[in-house]
Amino acid sequence: MSLADLPRTIEWIGELDGFVRMIDQTKLPESLEFIDCRDVSTMWHAIKRLSVRGAPAIGIAAAMGAVLAVRDETVSADGLLVKLEDACRYLASSRPTAVNLTWALERMKRVAHAPARENAKAICIRLLNAAKQIRDEDEAACRAIGKYGLPLINDGARILTHCNAGSLATAYYGTALAPIYAAHELGRRVTVFADETRPLLQGARLTAWELQSAGVDVRVLCDGAAASLMQRRQVDLVITGADRIAANGDTANKIGTYGLALLAKAHGIPFYVAAPSSTFDLAIPDGSAIPIEQRDPGEVGIGFGRSTVPEGVPCLNPAFDVTPGNLIAGIVTEIAVVTPVNRETIAKQLNPLQFSR
Ligand code: MRU
Repeated sequence: MSLADLPRTIEWIGELDGFVRMIDQTKLPESLEFIDCRDVSTMWHAIKRLSVRGAPAIGIAAAMGAVLAVRDETVSADGLLVKLEDACRYLASSRPTAVNLTWALERMKRVAHAPARENAKAICIRLLNAAKQIRDEDEAACRAIGKYGLPLINDGARILTHCNAGSLATAYYGTALAPIYAAHELGRRVTVFADETRPLLQGARLTAWELQSAGVDVRVLCDGAAASLMQRRQVDLVITGADRIAANGDTANKIGTYGLALLAKAHGIPFYVAAPSSTFDLAIPDGSAIPIEQRDPGEVGIGFGRSTVPEGVPCLNPAFDVTPGNLIAGIVTEIAVVTPVNRETIAKQLNPLQFSR
């Protein structure tokens, strides 16, 4: 298998009466299985339990979920708009941190309200086209991130990444992994160190699976091993994805990312973030206002069906942390590499008018 054979993470199959087909990421790496969603409740649960996960992918899933929620509305346009509002509120409640999810839902609402006086069916068709467009734009953004990030990946580079910010976390091709795929396609030799990423092992299960499938050299390490690797000068670069980036560059990503950024700083290793413009939340001045998802403590104490913590001992399970912008060497987007990372460079280089909103 090569990169070209990697299956699409999420797709709408058929016309308006069709369904959403997604890779069930909870089943990897043991088996590649797909999950078909035909109603909004199935989609909500798929997002919540991480069958579909990764900030851009859950944005696409939410947009398609909104279509599933309203497509049977044939009575009135006003009735459809009320139904859509409820569905968006419901879908937004599935996961709070990745702004791509609410970004996609807000866009769907704007599409529904566009030209006045259409019947419900016509609005539904417009919504479906918008959801497909969000998916297609994400794939294009990931390709562009690969292009802009390519100069960071020299022949022989040894790159450390955390969680999964690859093809599986997006429509296709990934964010943090996009420059790596771009370098690999050009024949540059790269070695990727994938943090296993406790507690749900997105690095070990997903990043390792997709890089191996694409023929990229990948090795999995315990999260605690990163410091030692850096100390022994075995890492040239760290690159991760993002779930929400505040106006000053503070970046929420999978729990453990902040620690990696501190380690990279201590060892003089550049720490980069890669994310599409849909991951920026310019309404939030800094990272302190980013909502952090608290997940079921059972994911820590009874990971993958086996108790690893004595019964009765409480576990903490914050799913994300916030890396201050001043620890980030640059943010690779589909528009530019923003560097240095601060309020001014973000405002200037990512002119809001360029954002596909
Ligand atoms: O809880 P997850 O698996 O959805 O967390 C995902 C991450 O933290 C990714 O790094 C982030 O969404 C970027 S995906 C391109």
